[in-house]
Amino acid sequence: MALLKSSKVISSLGNISPSLGVLSSRHSSWWGGLQMGPPDPILGVTEAFKRDTNPKKMNLGVGAYRDDQGKPFVLSCVRKAEALIAAKQLDKEYLPIGGLGEFSKACAQLALGAESEVLKSGRNITVQTISGTGSLRIGANFLARFHEGSRDVYLPKPSWGNHTPIFRDAGMQLKGYRYYDPSTCGFDFKGALEDISKIPEKSVILLHACAHNPTGVDPRPEQWKEIADLVKQKNLLVFFDMAYQGFASGDIDRDAWAVRHFIEQGHNIVLSQSFAKNMGLYGERVGGFTVVCKDADEAKRVESQLKILIRPIYSNPPMNGARIAATILNTPDLRSLWLEEVHGMANRIIKMREQLAAGLKSQGSSHNWQHVIDQIGMFCFTGLKPEQVERLTKEFSVYMTKDGRISMAGVTSGNVGHLAEGIHAVTK
Ligand code: LMR
Repeated sequence: MALLKSSKVISSLGNISPSLGVLSSRHSSWWGGLQMGPPDPILGVTEAFKRDTNPKKMNLGVGAYRDDQGKPFVLSCVRKAEALIAAKQLDKEYLPIGGLGEFSKACAQLALGAESEVLKSGRNITVQTISGTGSLRIGANFLARFHEGSRDVYLPKPSWGNHTPIFRDAGMQLKGYRYYDPSTCGFDFKGALEDISKIPEKSVILLHACAHNPTGVDPRPEQWKEIADLVKQKNLLVFFDMAYQGFASGDIDRDAWAVRHFIEQGHNIVLSQSFAKNMGLYGERVGGFTVVCKDADEAKRVESQLKILIRPIYSNPPMNGARIAATILNTPDLRSLWLEEVHGMANRIIKMREQLAAGLKSQGSSHNWQHVIDQIGMFCFTGLKPEQVERLTKEFSVYMTKDGRISMAGVTSGNVGHLAEGIHAVTK
């Protein structure tokens, strides 16, 4: 209405004023030539889900844990930590550029292990970041600015949808290595080794530490060992993305095994961590970025440059989520409660995998769905083709990414039957 009124004023003024040209220029735009961009391949699924009115609809797009009633889940340890923090009436001053010290320390300790030689000799620098994405982006920017080797970063094929734009926008060149074998719905170990052996020296290789996203397929420890040896031989810089520590097996140490093994073998890795999934702190945006260095002196120099890099982007990170995570990690009672709760979440997902496979069998599906059980972490890479995904969404209101990935964390005892029915119907 206000717009209507003002345009009326403009047109009436136009009759009497020579300044019409100036006034009508208010209708022109700086962005007239801008094309409509596509929705985000993962977060865009949630937008489509919200528009659907079917009461049976399921959002298996984004990886966000739900309880068995399908409700977002806030961990009790988080609620308790929040109460402790609130009672302290803390101030809201800026954090340092690298974030909350007690958080960064605990974050590195969680990944590397309390007894880590790296921590003892102070040859790491860990900064608090804006969750996993922010951590990866700071890492990508750091590599683009300072890595003396090549600008090439090798991602597993496939990798998390956001890895490509993160590294590309930071100025890195995207390359890939074989990872997933569609014929077995498992790890293509031979293909991975073959491709890695051809990567030029000093390139960057990105590895998912556990619960590979989107495939749910991880190397076994003996396979990790071979990969670590080969990567060392090729002198590649390893970038570990660890967004699911605790979520793969329910055990934080087991899930950090690959990261710790690489470090023990002498790899000075860089590492991204996220607390979105394992503490359910999605919207709090809590993460960490670590560079393992040759010695404490190198770590200090890296720290100084990370601060220079971070300051013009977001100045310093938000404090609330880091305070929650630090309180949980540093308070023995809350830490034990958290470990129980991570275990509980991982177990619920494992149960849903079993129920989905059983449901498909009882629907009469003749396909082999063993991979639904064998894959680990939050996601199941079903093997569904894009047209089958489209039918599943259209006919059953099951929302998922086009690559056939479903977030097992959104499956419940109440809706697993509907999902099995839908998958069977589109794969018959
Ligand atoms: C996912 O892959 O669904 C999650 O990591 C959430 C995200 O930001 O994409």
